[in-house]
Amino acid sequence: MTESAPYAVTPSRLTTLVTFAEEGSVVGAARRLVVSESAVSVAMSALSRDLGVPLVERVGRGVELTPAGTTYLAYARRVLGLLEQGWAAARGVGEPGRGRLRLAVVTTAADQLIAPLLASFSTVFPDVELQVDVGNSVEVWDLLAHHEVDLVLAGRPPGAASGRIAARRDNLLVVVARPSSAATFAEGETTWLLRERGSGTRASLEGLLASRDLDPPRMVLGSNGAVVAAAVAGLGAALVSADAVAAELASGTLAVVAVSGTPLVRPWHLVTGVTPTPATRLFVEHVLSVPGWRAAGP
Ligand code: PGA
Repeated sequence: MTESAPYAVTPSRLTTLVTFAEEGSVVGAARRLVVSESAVSVAMSALSRDLGVPLVERVGRGVELTPAGTTYLAYARRVLGLLEQGWAAARGVGEPGRGRLRLAVVTTAADQLIAPLLASFSTVFPDVELQVDVGNSVEVWDLLAHHEVDLVLAGRPPGAASGRIAARRDNLLVVVARPSSAATFAEGETTWLLRERGSGTRASLEGLLASRDLDPPRMVLGSNGAVVAAAVAGLGAALVSADAVAAELASGTLAVVAVSGTPLVRPWHLVTGVTPTPATRLFVEHVLSVPGWRAAGP
């Protein structure tokens, strides 16, 4: 009888694979994990041997994931995310106030909404360890889908959201421009100031323009702050959350432009994984006690 090879899949090797993919090189993964480059190569060879297919291949002077490696990577992320979630869930049983909460927030909500919620939550539950990731819409939903966070705060969830909507809050997107530009605004000709690809706000604007068959000039800026500053400077018009420009509208440095189809209703959603951890449930309850938030209907 032949002895089967020891099972090579371990959390540490999966972490090596995920880190390699994130860093894009063996050198980068080794540096981040504080191990030797050969330890990274050995881990990936062991996984490849175990699966019976190469996960990485040499391309030019570097090493890249094979198509099988890319497919396996998504599973590796989920497995590691679930292990972490299981740890937090088990530790939180009986003592939810001592658990860990991993939260991902879209940039716009990070600018306007999350800080007071975290501050008031931490006052009541100082022993919940908070881990917050900020990214654009595509990035945060990807983290939830891979169980790498317990909770997402963002605009509209994607069609096949791998989670449960726990709470909602009103949010309106308005078109703004400097008052002098607002007076001469022409929706097909004025330059539109856009967030980066992957932004939910940008997707909303692209949807609005497409629905009106418009293809105006666009200028892409990487953050809400840059978009708002560009609008204040008179570089064009922007679609932004009304809360994000409340101060500029109040001081008159920006004005709302009446564009058909706006204001656009895009409520905030707080979405948990399918099986929320005890600390996640505590946070949701807390958010629901804050004025403006309401439980999501059935
Ligand atoms: P964004 O997300 O910050 O990626 O634009 C906002 C949203 O999802 O509504």
